[in-house]
Amino acid sequence: MSHSPLKPNISLSDLHPYEPIDNSINFHKEKNSFQQISDYMEARIRRGDWQAHEKLPSVRQLSQESGMHRLTVLKAYQQLKESGILYSRHKSGYYVSPPAAGTLTHDSELEPSLFQGNMGELRHLPARYQFSHALIDPNLLPNHYFAEYMKKVFDLYPKLLGTYAHIQGDMELREMLARYFGRTASFHIDPEELLITSGAQQGIYIVAETWIRPGDHVLIESPTYATALDVFRQKGARLLPVGIHSGGYDMQDIEQKMQQYRPRIFYLNPTFHNPTGLCIPAEQRKQLVDLAVEYQCLLIEDDTCSDIYFDRKPPAPIFAYDTEGYTIHIRSFSKYISPGLRIACIAARKPWMSRLLTAKSLADGGTPLLNQKLFLHYFMSDRLHRHLDKLRIALRIRMEIMQEELDRAGWQYEQPQGGLSLWVRVPEHLSVPHLLRECLARQISFVPGSLFDAAEQSGQYIRLSFSFASETQIRDGMRELLSISRDINVQRSSIKR
Ligand SMILES: Cc1ncc(COP(=O)(O)O)c(C=O)c1O
Repeated sequence: MSHSPLKPNISLSDLHPYEPIDNSINFHKEKNSFQQISDYMEARIRRGDWQAHEKLPSVRQLSQESGMHRLTVLKAYQQLKESGILYSRHKSGYYVSPPAAGTLTHDSELEPSLFQGNMGELRHLPARYQFSHALIDPNLLPNHYFAEYMKKVFDLYPKLLGTYAHIQGDMELREMLARYFGRTASFHIDPEELLITSGAQQGIYIVAETWIRPGDHVLIESPTYATALDVFRQKGARLLPVGIHSGGYDMQDIEQKMQQYRPRIFYLNPTFHNPTGLCIPAEQRKQLVDLAVEYQCLLIEDDTCSDIYFDRKPPAPIFAYDTEGYTIHIRSFSKYISPGLRIACIAARKPWMSRLLTAKSLADGGTPLLNQKLFLHYFMSDRLHRHLDKLRIALRIRMEIMQEELDRAGWQYEQPQGGLSLWVRVPEHLSVPHLLRECLARQISFVPGSLFDAAEQSGQYIRLSFSFASETQIRDGMRELLSISRDINVQRSSIKR
């Protein structure tokens, strides 16, 4: 952004009738000259002539325009810097500090003024570097084929739009998915045990509608998918977080909580977990089924990314280990095929299906048939495999670029085995809320760890998604983010001095 001209063309008295600013820069000879410059610049910054992080006129420029010696101007800038009104960047110049910075002494004071919304709000903020979307760059998705399938679908089913979809989902699609699960996920399922939903998010909502009453205990991972937290909270659930680490869960903790609280459900995302990217080993998947049966706790297995792996395929879903029917498997295809179609499904053994269907019929009366048919014809084609092979490579490259930048700065992260994001530990001296605010001001977006965590143990983490931004954007955006973090550090030390 370019600077405003030094002499503003608006009337200051319009802005603040009681404290007019002398725009003329005719400084009074008798007054301390650096103080006059300092007051003048401070007044203009406060009324918004320059925005947060905007570059201020150089010392040379301000000296020429004011007729003051350069050292005088420099001294004024130093004073403003010390009071936190502006900050400097090495070999680059002086910049306006964000509003609260001038009054701060502790990081904790920063916290109240920052972004306090939820995931949905964060997603809608403008971003030049978009690291908060755990969505795939549309350029990597097979969009252009869908025009072809659109024609094909209307040729095959000319009256498609003249009817409602079946509440449980299109039979042709359910049959195809049943074959697909039998082939790829090593579980056998009848099409009658599948319910097509509008995204996994609706699947979670339907499960919550079906099983959670206010005051029920719900086991969740800490951290976990933020929207699921919002759904369970809205249902009045009492959340019981259990940790997830590179080795998996603490099984003793899970058992102890199941024994003590008898939770209705355990909502879990064991395959390329969002936000950490971790994958629960096969052994624990089996143990979980045993615990679920013993303590009569349904396992709600949310799986949105099992096809997005980098080295090897993940273990079979928990649903595949469960012969007793205590697992409900929610499987989404939105992320890596067509988010706009919102196609996902719930796999559940027959006794559960009528209850799930009741909730689905109250939610929307059936996922749009056109979407289901479009998805079906793409999903049945050979193109799917070619697409997935290329997609895994493209995502891996993006992940490695992000990791290179983080490594250079010495930041720690979980090494994901699949998925779309990195779970990054921000160095201790940095406040995540402060970093987020500074980044959002420069349109760099990421998700603070606290949004994923009911246990409030992820405050020092952030989720950086590498799947939405291009390779160049990842490189440039990460450099800018890391440079902002260094500036905060410098600013912080100078404020404390
Ligand atoms: C773990 C998890 N579950 C569910 C969803 C929602 O998926 P869908 O787009 O199919 O509604 C997401 C999307 O980010 C997710 O990460």
